[in-house]
Amino acid sequence: MAQIERPRTIVTRRVPAAVEARMAELFDAEFNASDEPWAPERLHEAAARADVLVPTLTDEIDADLIAAAGPRLRLIANFGVGVDHIDLAAARAKNIIVTNTPGVLTEDTADMTMALILSVPRRLAEGEKLVRAGEWGGWSPTGMLGHRINRKALGIIGMGRIGQAVARRARGFGLSIHYHNRHRLPDAVEAELGATHWPDLDDMLTEIDILSINCPYTRETRHLIDARRLALLGREVYLINTSRGEIVDEAALVATLEAGGIAGAGLDVYEDEPVIDPRLLALDNVVLLPHMGSATYEGREAMGDKVIANIRIWADGHRPPDQVLEGWI
Ligand code: GLV
Repeated sequence: MAQIERPRTIVTRRVPAAVEARMAELFDAEFNASDEPWAPERLHEAAARADVLVPTLTDEIDADLIAAAGPRLRLIANFGVGVDHIDLAAARAKNIIVTNTPGVLTEDTADMTMALILSVPRRLAEGEKLVRAGEWGGWSPTGMLGHRINRKALGIIGMGRIGQAVARRARGFGLSIHYHNRHRLPDAVEAELGATHWPDLDDMLTEIDILSINCPYTRETRHLIDARRLALLGREVYLINTSRGEIVDEAALVATLEAGGIAGAGLDVYEDEPVIDPRLLALDNVVLLPHMGSATYEGREAMGDKVIANIRIWADGHRPPDQVLEGWI
C-alpha cells in the first residue's frame, strides 16, 4: 500500500471550488481551469505524471490510456458513481485501484427520476412550452390531458441504492413497485417497498405502465432495452432513463416513439452525449434533460468529499473505502 504525503493528483474537470481548495491543501493537485474535456493526448500526459488521476464520466479511461500510464499512477479516484468509462480489467491488470462516489447522489438522482416519472405522463414540458409560446387559450375540460400516475405499475430495472430510492418515492405517489435485478432483494426490503420481483425481465415489461432504468451500464446491460423489448412494452407505457444512454438502443427507441409503439419517454442520458438525436427533439411526448440527475450543489460537494477521502485514506496506506471491485457493478 502507498504512503505518500502529497500525492500528485490531476483532476480532469472543474469540481466545486471548495473541493478544489481542499484538494490543493492536501495534495499536490492540478486542475483543469478551462473545464474543457481533455483530448486523449492530454489525458495520456496526465496519466503519465500523476500518482492519482481524478477523471469523471466525460473521460474515456480505456485500456490504451491505462497501458500508457506512468509507473506512479496507482489510483483512479473517479468523480462520479458510474465507472463504465473506465476499463476496470485493464486497471486491475496494472494494479491500479479504482474508486467511485456511491451513496451521495442517490437521493438527487431518484428525485430527478421521479420528476421525469411525473413530467412525461402529465405533459409538464409541453404545458410549459405552450405558456411560454403565448399559445395558452385558458382552461378547458379537454385541455392538456395526460395520464394518471396513481395506481399505475412502475417497473424498475436495477434495484440498487438509486432504484430503491425511486421505489420509496413512487410508493408515495400510489404506484405499485415491480423490479428486475440481478439479485433478489432481502424479504424485509421487498416488504418495506411493497416490491414485486420479476426474475424474467421480459415478463415484467408486459405488466407495467412506466419503466425506469436505474441499473449500471456494463457489458451485460448494453442495449438491454432493444427493439424487441421495446415492443413488449405497450402503446400506453412510458420509459424513463436516468442511468446511462447505452442501456437503451436509442435508434430503436426513436423508431418506437415515432411509430407510437410506446406513449413517451423521459431521458436524462443519451448514447452519444452531448449529441441528441434530432428526431428526439422533434417529438412532443419526450422530455429531454442534459444529464443532470446528480446536479445539486450539495451532491457535487459530497462527491468531492468522497473523492478526497478515498485519496487521503489510500495515500495514508489504507484501502480506500469506495474501491470498485470488478464484477461488483
Ligand atoms: C453520474 O452520472 C454519475 O455516474 O455519477
